[in-house]
Amino acid sequence: MLPTATYRAGDFVDAAAKLGAEVVVGSEHRQALSESMGDRAITLSLRQPLRAADQIARLAERSPLDAVVAVDDGGTRAAAVASERLGLRGNPLDAVERARDKAAMREAFAAAGVPQPDFRVVRNGEDVARLAEELGPPVVVKPLTLSMSRGVIRADDPAAAAEAATRVRAILADAGEEPAARLMVERFVPGPEVAVEGLLRDGRLELLAVFDKPDPLDGPYFEETLYVTPSRHETGPIERATAAAARALGLREGPVHAELRIGADEPVVLELAARSIGGLCSRSLRFGLGMSLEEIILRHALDLPLNGHAREERAAGVMMLPIPRAGELRAVRGLEAARAIEGIGGVEITIPRGRPVVPLPEGDRYLGFIFAKGDTPEAVEAALREAHSQLEVEIA
Ligand SMILES: Nc1ncnc2c1ncn2[C@@H]1O[C@H](COP(=O)(O)OP(=O)(O)O)[C@@H](O)[C@H]1O
Ligand SMILES: [Mg+2]
Repeated sequence: MLPTATYRAGDFVDAAAKLGAEVVVGSEHRQALSESMGDRAITLSLRQPLRAADQIARLAERSPLDAVVAVDDGGTRAAAVASERLGLRGNPLDAVERARDKAAMREAFAAAGVPQPDFRVVRNGEDVARLAEELGPPVVVKPLTLSMSRGVIRADDPAAAAEAATRVRAILADAGEEPAARLMVERFVPGPEVAVEGLLRDGRLELLAVFDKPDPLDGPYFEETLYVTPSRHETGPIERATAAAARALGLREGPVHAELRIGADEPVVLELAARSIGGLCSRSLRFGLGMSLEEIILRHALDLPLNGHAREERAAGVMMLPIPRAGELRAVRGLEAARAIEGIGGVEITIPRGRPVVPLPEGDRYLGFIFAKGDTPEAVEAALREAHSQLEVEIA
């Protein structure tokens, strides 16, 4: 299942080709599919999972399927229903729904005692300032259903929280979502943040990678930049908290991507999604004898042999290029110089010249990615920063 706006299509299609797996791509719009997929594509209503599952079941009658894989958030519900109906490996629908709704997720974590920020869910018209006051600022205001930090805003006092809520509603409207939807207000948890890539196999979490995010994420907007693995934090508590979070949601199979803050005594779970890492970030990861993250996910879904797939020993990292300001992208200069820095494996610009670039909290596209490897996380971090300093982004 390829949601229209995904970055993940190419890497999954490549992994399938490597495995000799025949692919049928399901997407909302035909134009989202690249030519290479030819006729092996169907149009699906990913936002109506029961309908999509009917369409998939009809396809499976003509052409039997061995796995239904969502490459991104937008496809997880349809994949869950279709997998269940066809008796294939997958997650229950209610579990992936909880992972897609930040209120349902917080409630499931609370019921299971998973450490998380104190929170309040606000209905349209409710007094956001009063709820922020109750929680004790600083707080974070965010939509329940968007991702990539879109609409996630820190507020340092109650009045700012009310203003943030108004801005989040405008962002929801812009995203084609219901502006009167409920919102999340939660305590801001200070401290370093990590991201976890994991694979659930029959309900058990296998840790694939833990990334540090060495640039402080203190807001007011939460633009992601550096991801570096292995983590310099103790991973035992991070693994236990991630496993508890997945269990609390009821997830059992396939990739998970979690974000945690390392609090004073224990990690606090910000969120857990039933998918792998976003953007092109997975390209920083290699496992076993050269397996991609997508190959691991497809092997698991297809019940192909999967072992000896520890991440390579070298440190690795990726920088999501910061968007300095809003405008039209004119040029990104210095690519050759950035690529020439020792340890840099690639630089990809993912917004075409002449297209708008929009910073957070409104933005929803990545400007680009820098990839690096090195002997230590410190070396990787330094290489990414050095490569970034070579780039000059011209925005009109
Ligand atoms: N309660 C919080 N405390 C501290 N930082 C937060 C909090 N909530 C969100 N953030 C920051 O905002 C980022 C995006 O928020 P998140 O809840 O993960 O939404 P999204 O689905 O958009 O990724 C997080 O990775 C984190 O850096
Ligand atoms: Mg997140």
